[in-house]
Amino acid sequence: MIYPATQTNIQKAAQALKQGNVVAFPTETVYGLGANALNAMAVAKIFEIKQRPFFDPLIVHVSSLEMVKYIVSYLPDMALQCIKTFWPGPLTIVLPKKNVIPDIVTAGLDTVAVRMPSHHVAQQLIEHAGVPIAAPSANPFGYLSPTTAYHVEKQLGNKVDIILDGGQSPVGVESTIIKIEKDSVTLLRHGGIPVEDIEAVAGEVSLIRHTQVEAPGQLPYHYAPTTKIVLVKDVSNIPDDSSSGMILYKKSDISFKNIHVMYLSDNGDLRQAAANLFACLHALDAMKLSVIYVEEIPDVGLGQAIMDRLKKAQARHR
Ligand code: TXA
Ligand code: MG
Repeated sequence: MIYPATQTNIQKAAQALKQGNVVAFPTETVYGLGANALNAMAVAKIFEIKQRPFFDPLIVHVSSLEMVKYIVSYLPDMALQCIKTFWPGPLTIVLPKKNVIPDIVTAGLDTVAVRMPSHHVAQQLIEHAGVPIAAPSANPFGYLSPTTAYHVEKQLGNKVDIILDGGQSPVGVESTIIKIEKDSVTLLRHGGIPVEDIEAVAGEVSLIRHTQVEAPGQLPYHYAPTTKIVLVKDVSNIPDDSSSGMILYKKSDISFKNIHVMYLSDNGDLRQAAANLFACLHALDAMKLSVIYVEEIPDVGLGQAIMDRLKKAQARHR
């Protein structure tokens, strides 16, 4: 059930987490499905609810640097620098883990992915629970991530008792994931912090072709709606058909009469586009159309995270 994120309801949700239950909650990126990261049984419920394969490790959410030190065995200077610059916020850092984090959280890896969310509801929830919270996006495995409480309710409502409603997630795409080893930084997933911003702090960031186990978010398809997605450079030639949907990067004066059109942004603001991405896809997917055309986004800054999600959505039907 959806509960507005009042103080009382945040307390109630924190209590549920302490008791080993699962709670859906808002973050600035997307909604998460959380459980006490120190409790393997509680974390197992996340995998069960999401139908998520056990080889796909989870991100652990913290509310303080003390919590990071409790779960991470080594914090390189470079990590501290990134923490200082980007936390709280949509950056996840993969670091060597301590034994307090059970294997189910990390899929047996000796590293743990850590992030300090900036959303005040997420922060208060973690603080009240008093433990780090393991949380993937609150969607069935492979499907679109939720950016509202309603998206969670629609997809997992019968499986999650508490869905805290903190409004629409302002960033709208998942966190950027980097792995830091001594002084080297590797990008594992594009996301809410553009890689250019990280390079300004950390110097050159390398992009390795990872194995499935290293970053299953990099499976060829993911973030996919049920409806077929087709990316197009020039939308002017698309047939104007009422069984199709179309997502445009910005408002334009192309006049379509029948096709269902949605806009990611007013004037081409990438932040606005990212924030609206999943909501547009959810809305058009619910209409059971035969195809959703999506105009390509400039592949720079946040555009890289958006294009990454769109390419993976398209790949499902290839
Ligand atoms: O913005 C976000 O990151 C959202 C919100 C809820 O915080 N969470 C999210 O989680 O996107 P999820 O589970 O959908 O994606 C987590 C990704 C997975 O692709 C996983 O492979 C990667 O993080 N990951 C987790 N632990 C890892 C590790 N130790 N090494 C490498 N990749 C890891
Ligand atoms: Mg996800």
